[in-house]
Amino acid sequence: MSARKIVLDCDPGHDDAIAIMLACASPEIELLGVTTVAGNVTLEHTTRNALRVLDLLGRADIPVAAGRDGPLIRKLSTAAVMHGESGLAGPLAFEPSRSQSHLTALQLIEEVLRQAGEPITLVATGPLTNIADVVRQLPEAHHLIAEIVIMGGAVELGNWTPAAEFNIWVDPDAAKIVFEAGIPLTMIGLEVTHQAWLSDAHADHLRGTGRAGQYVAELLDHFVKFHQDRFGWPGAPIHDAVTIAHLIDPTLVSTMAMNVQIETTSPLCIGRTVADRWSVTGLPPTAKVGLTIDRDRFVTLLLSAISHLA
Ligand code: RIB
Ligand code: CA
Repeated sequence: MSARKIVLDCDPGHDDAIAIMLACASPEIELLGVTTVAGNVTLEHTTRNALRVLDLLGRADIPVAAGRDGPLIRKLSTAAVMHGESGLAGPLAFEPSRSQSHLTALQLIEEVLRQAGEPITLVATGPLTNIADVVRQLPEAHHLIAEIVIMGGAVELGNWTPAAEFNIWVDPDAAKIVFEAGIPLTMIGLEVTHQAWLSDAHADHLRGTGRAGQYVAELLDHFVKFHQDRFGWPGAPIHDAVTIAHLIDPTLVSTMAMNVQIETTSPLCIGRTVADRWSVTGLPPTAKVGLTIDRDRFVTLLLSAISHLA
């Protein structure tokens, strides 16, 4: 089975950083490029963080291109309270060895789509602003996209408001464009990712397994404490890594095709993914939506991959 060629659009962010590592650790994935978007923290920080993580892995060969510094219409509102102002609170910060690509995120994605020789999977683990640009500005390249896999949304409760998950809430207008594009779409939402948590014990398991394992342990030291203090949970959900794990092993997450629409105006429910779980609207499906995950196999896969990185 040849490796799945992907571009990862992200807003590192603790869990985005771990998703990058999982992609680089897995022979099932060929990470052709990383693009960054404002979300968890500002674009400057998400871009530097992507460069840092790839440096840590010795993968300065993978291009990093910066995209949008804010949502299409709304004002940027970050999650710095969770991830720290830098976006990667916990480990000691180090200067990236290189600058980002001279290409924009959109230009890098277009270049990869046109040169890959086979359809590419776009994985998005931040707000969908850059992906909305791809949909609107590259209409003649849609057939070069195998599918779009996002971390975002929820069938039931939100995590940033009672109604909305953070990535969709930051840029609901972009999400609406992506969900209405007609490109094969998989939505890995909170029903799945809230089960994909790691705890202090997992951090201790990784400590001393190598540079990457040590770095993830220090990320978790911050990320787990935040979730324990804020929510009283046993650990921190590694939301974004589930998108990559799903591509590595499609048996981990069960999905169901359903109509999902994005609320873009209601002050109370803006950013909600309105998922027709019981087909009451009769509207055609717009996404495959994650419903369950084999938590134990996910944790085993993730810890093994990280601990085997250099
Ligand atoms: O709601 C969780 C999502 O928002 C994750 O992608 C996390 O990194 C933040 O971006
Ligand atoms: Ca993210």
